[in-house]
Amino acid sequence: MARINDHYLKLQAGYLFPEIARRVNAFAAEHPEAKIIRLGIGDVTRPLAPAVIKAFQAGIEDLAREETFHGYGPEQGYEWLRQTIVERAYRPLGVELAADEIFISDGSKCDTANILDIFGPDNRVAICDPVYPVYNDTNVMAGRSGPADEQGYYEGIVYMPCTAENAFTPAFPQEKVDLIYLCYPNNPTGTVATREQLAGWVQYALDNEAVILFDAAYEAFITEPGIPHSIYEIEGARRCAIEFRSFSKTAGFTGVRCGLAVVPHELVGRTATGDEVPLHQLWSRRQSTKFNGVSYPVQRAAAAVYSDEGWAQVREVIAYYLGNAAIIRQGLEAAGITCYGGVNAPYIWLRTPEGMGSWDFFDKLLAECHVVGTPGAGFGPSGEGYFRLSAFGSRENVEEAVARIRKRWGGG
Ligand code: MLT
Repeated sequence: MARINDHYLKLQAGYLFPEIARRVNAFAAEHPEAKIIRLGIGDVTRPLAPAVIKAFQAGIEDLAREETFHGYGPEQGYEWLRQTIVERAYRPLGVELAADEIFISDGSKCDTANILDIFGPDNRVAICDPVYPVYNDTNVMAGRSGPADEQGYYEGIVYMPCTAENAFTPAFPQEKVDLIYLCYPNNPTGTVATREQLAGWVQYALDNEAVILFDAAYEAFITEPGIPHSIYEIEGARRCAIEFRSFSKTAGFTGVRCGLAVVPHELVGRTATGDEVPLHQLWSRRQSTKFNGVSYPVQRAAAAVYSDEGWAQVREVIAYYLGNAAIIRQGLEAAGITCYGGVNAPYIWLRTPEGMGSWDFFDKLLAECHVVGTPGAGFGPSGEGYFRLSAFGSRENVEEAVARIRKRWGGG
């Protein structure tokens, strides 16, 4: 009989979002009359921008004709998309990348998980708590942890608590770590890192020969000037950081799937015998062996995001979601609920009212307001007592959800 990967059995619960969907579906089956508003998983609701659709359709038309047909593309992405990203996404930030440092993928969730393939099993990993569960769970699956304790912390993983008490700013780990996950703007807390804070992390990583895995999936939601959009805005980051970006939240590609990883040429890791090896070489090898690239029409659609027309349209949608975030935050604050985030991010991170547990609040909100959010505890033990609302709903639903919450908790 085939032997399983026993590490999977250490995982304490099902993946967070399917678990929420399961509970919501059970509630909906029992209460078919309830008009449920879903502000849980950060899934977009606005249609793709017209310029993106046009390019997507043109890509499909190309596949319909022999002269313009495309079969396998380069595993790392088409040169024209990689070059567009260099010029339109990074150069305006003052960041110079080579096109071949950009690897096009089917999204940041997959990239932040798959990147572990190129790192040895003995690396010590540091993650924030609360955190996007993929970083934690994929390391458990890969065998980089022991079992979880009763609080939900896995042995061997270094957790960096982020709560209101430390302004959601992780402290540097006390012990030596090799891989550090940072996500800014942050999922789930919606907070951002200043240039000084990121410079501190870059220095820390260089001093400790650690690699930062920087998830910038929400960078397009930054509204405040001076907040870095990329880790490479920080001097020295090319020698210590891999960055992930996504078209999902930026341009509504959650169902289309496209993202990218940046692996600079200078970035190296060590072999067991201490020799330096460029991580770029390993990631390129990994992708060409395990991945056949993102489909041609999707890459055409992604390139159109950076056309003048596409970018203006995409910015309008982002402004719409940020408008939702402001409505949620203001409405909840009027109800006496303490909120964080929602200014440079599409997530509002709130203190559960009356000191309720996160899952208790989830159940109450669903039962009494028919509103779905995400319990903070689902993102890690330090998320207990917090709750996340997503701003990706329609305006109508967001307004209705806020009105229901205010009616129930006051201020309405
Ligand atoms: C979330 O709700 O945290 C995100 O939608 C998850 C994801 O992007 O995979």
